Amino acid sequence: MHALLLFLYLLLAWTEGAKAMDPTMPFMVFLDQDHLVCLKWGFDDQYGTITFQLTVNTTGWVGFGLSPNGGMKGADIVIGGLGPSGEYFKDLHATGYSMPVEDEEQSYTLLSVHENEEQTIMTFERSIQACDKNDFHITDHPINVIYAYGTIDEISYHGQRRGVKQLNLLNYMPRTHPNNPRYLSATVESVMVPATKTYYHCKLMAFPQLNTAHHIYQIVPVIDNPDIVHHMLLYSCPVYVTELHEGQCYMGDPGDACFGVVASWGVGGQAFEFPENVGFRIGGEERDTLYRLEIHYSNPQEKTGIKDSSGLRLYYTTDLREHDVGILFTGVLAMEGMQYNIPPNTSQFHTYGVCSTAHFSQLVNPVPDLQVFAVLLHTHLAGRKVRVGHFRDGQQIDFLGLDENYDFEMQHIASLGHIKTIKQGDEIAVECTYNTTNRTEATKLGLATTDEMCLAFLFYYPAINITTCISHPDTEGIASNGPDYDEIPDHSEIDDYETYLKTLPQIQTVIDNNLTTVVSTNGTIREMMEMFTVTCEKSSASSRRCTSWMVNLTGISILQVLASII
Ligand SMILES: *[C@@H]1O[C@H](CO)[C@@H](O)[C@H](O)[C@H]1NC(C)=O
Ligand SMILES: *[C@@H]1O[C@H](CO)[C@@H](O)[C@H](O)[C@H]1NC(C)=O
Ligand SMILES: *[C@@H]1O[C@H](CO)[C@@H](O)[C@H](O)[C@H]1NC(C)=O
Ligand SMILES: *[C@@H]1O[C@H](CO)[C@@H](O)[C@H](O)[C@H]1NC(C)=O
Ligand SMILES: *[C@@H]1O[C@H](CO)[C@@H](O)[C@H](O)[C@H]1NC(C)=O
Ligand SMILES: *[C@@H]1O[C@H](CO)[C@@H](O)[C@H](O)[C@H]1NC(C)=O
Ligand SMILES: *[C@@H]1O[C@H](CO)[C@@H](O)[C@H](O)[C@H]1NC(C)=O
Ligand SMILES: *[C@@H]1O[C@H](CO)[C@@H](O)[C@H](O)[C@H]1NC(C)=O
Repeated sequence: MHALLLFLYLLLAWTEGAKAMDPTMPFMVFLDQDHLVCLKWGFDDQYGTITFQLTVNTTGWVGFGLSPNGGMKGADIVIGGLGPSGEYFKDLHATGYSMPVEDEEQSYTLLSVHENEEQTIMTFERSIQACDKNDFHITDHPINVIYAYGTIDEISYHGQRRGVKQLNLLNYMPRTHPNNPRYLSATVESVMVPATKTYYHCKLMAFPQLNTAHHIYQIVPVIDNPDIVHHMLLYSCPVYVTELHEGQCYMGDPGDACFGVVASWGVGGQAFEFPENVGFRIGGEERDTLYRLEIHYSNPQEKTGIKDSSGLRLYYTTDLREHDVGILFTGVLAMEGMQYNIPPNTSQFHTYGVCSTAHFSQLVNPVPDLQVFAVLLHTHLAGRKVRVGHFRDGQQIDFLGLDENYDFEMQHIASLGHIKTIKQGDEIAVECTYNTTNRTEATKLGLATTDEMCLAFLFYYPAINITTCISHPDTEGIASNGPDYDEIPDHSEIDDYETYLKTLPQIQTVIDNNLTTVVSTNGTIREMMEMFTVTCEKSSASSRRCTSWMVNLTGISILQVLASII
């Protein structure tokens, strides 16, 4: 009896474990149509490593490779499994349609290999960059992933048990194709875009009433005038905003209070789809919520007569996913009365916005751990780099987002290589680096494209009712707003000014989706850590596992094994 209970318990635990998402490997695809070969993976762009888990319905050998053209020639291959004499694993490469050769440098590290009655589960790791000439350099472009396997551990010709799939490993997005896709349309209709360099247009809208909760799983931009539509944001409104309105944004209308980000798109971005386990909740009890679509038109040539009908399509489903998505707005944004200018003629001026999640408990209780899976970074024309630091107990533990080559024309929601957990009390700091060498006047924080802002939208689950957590330095009561900009400041003045702004107390503002606001005046900007320099030295994992047993594959006809992966 007890044994049976224990067995059931173990079985349950095992099934749960198999189903649960591994935060270090959030991506999953089947490489074949019959769902016999499953690849999970995740990566750490800080340490420059990528981890794979290949699960194949076989108890024989399994092979995985990265191939320039989908065939075997030039492919970077690993073969492994669990045989009668233990585990085996090798890094190989194919020079042509001849015997693949064992790499001199074994660049892959076996982390584990397990077998159950039907399956082999092999977990292994390598660096993202190629460490020797026989390794495939993994980039954020689609590449050909190949696989093959046998029914026994003795490596022999695999017959039809092989295939290829194109995957973008570092920039993966699921694509579901439901039978009858339904979407909500959040668009403007024939807006006359004024002949001004910057124009923010806002439209408050109600969606067709959905009486039960639905999940938005995909956001597709509909861009009418690609040359002037710069970014779009869809916000939800607090319950007391009930009147529809359309016109220029931030003119003191009730809709200015709508600040719960639902969806975002920046120039250069594509359609975005949430991971399979999450969706953005819409309808149900919140069916009367109004939404505000904000479109930033950037019209530097001040063209006249442009009519625009851009917007977003929100694909939704009644099949609720496991978690609701939340989007947290962090960084530094122009606020009334704020003095925060970026001096001209400086090639790397930093601004900071901090967010201490310790304040969340004043608005939401209890505060769950927030699992961050994607980030959208946003600055304007002078922005060159954005880093989002993650601090715990006063120490930086990670980056939640990082773009060392920020490109204003290429903004997109970037999926993180693994899920990062924000715990109650953690701090977030958004740092932007600006280059104003080309400017002769100070750049202020503001809404225009020629003004600046420094934002990180963190996509996480489970959703909490907090929309915004931003900060700015407490410059009030300070006579001078930094260097005198009548003349272009010299470098030591600029450095002093940057340091001065950084050491001032930071005023933090945390806002919930009912617009209740908590302000605290004791925020601190902490030092951010240096970036890791990714090297090709064997990862720490390999030193953890120096005992892995390697099969001697020499002399086995690997040619036959892989020859027909074409
Ligand atoms: C593969 O093996 C797993 C675990 O034993 C099983 O649940 C699944 O149905 C198998 N898949 C196929 C397509 O046979
Ligand atoms: C900008 O700074 C450089 C020194 O880095 C100086 O040589 C140059 O004259 C400055 N530009 C202007 C317009 O003052
Ligand atoms: C700053 O921008 C100028 C041109 O606008 C460029 O020449 C310079 O290399 C940039 N400096 C840095 C550090 O990005
Ligand atoms: C610098 O400014 C000039 C004129 O203001 C502009 O034509 C040029 O493209 C700018 N260069 C860069 C790198 O932004
Ligand atoms: C968020 O607030 C709404 C009311 O504004 C409430 O109905 C909902 O239960 C809250 N959700 C959470 C997760 O606290
Ligand atoms: C939202 O705010 C209104 C007015 O400020 C208040 O009456 C209401 O109780 C608040 N709702 C929640 C869920 O906090
Ligand atoms: C700021 O003040 C709050 C209480 O108002 C306190 O809990 C928090 O620890 C303080 N933070 C810092 C960084 O001093
Ligand atoms: C591997 O096997 C080949 C032939 O069976 C043998 O010549 C070679 O010495 C073996 N290598 C190792 C490292 O055991």
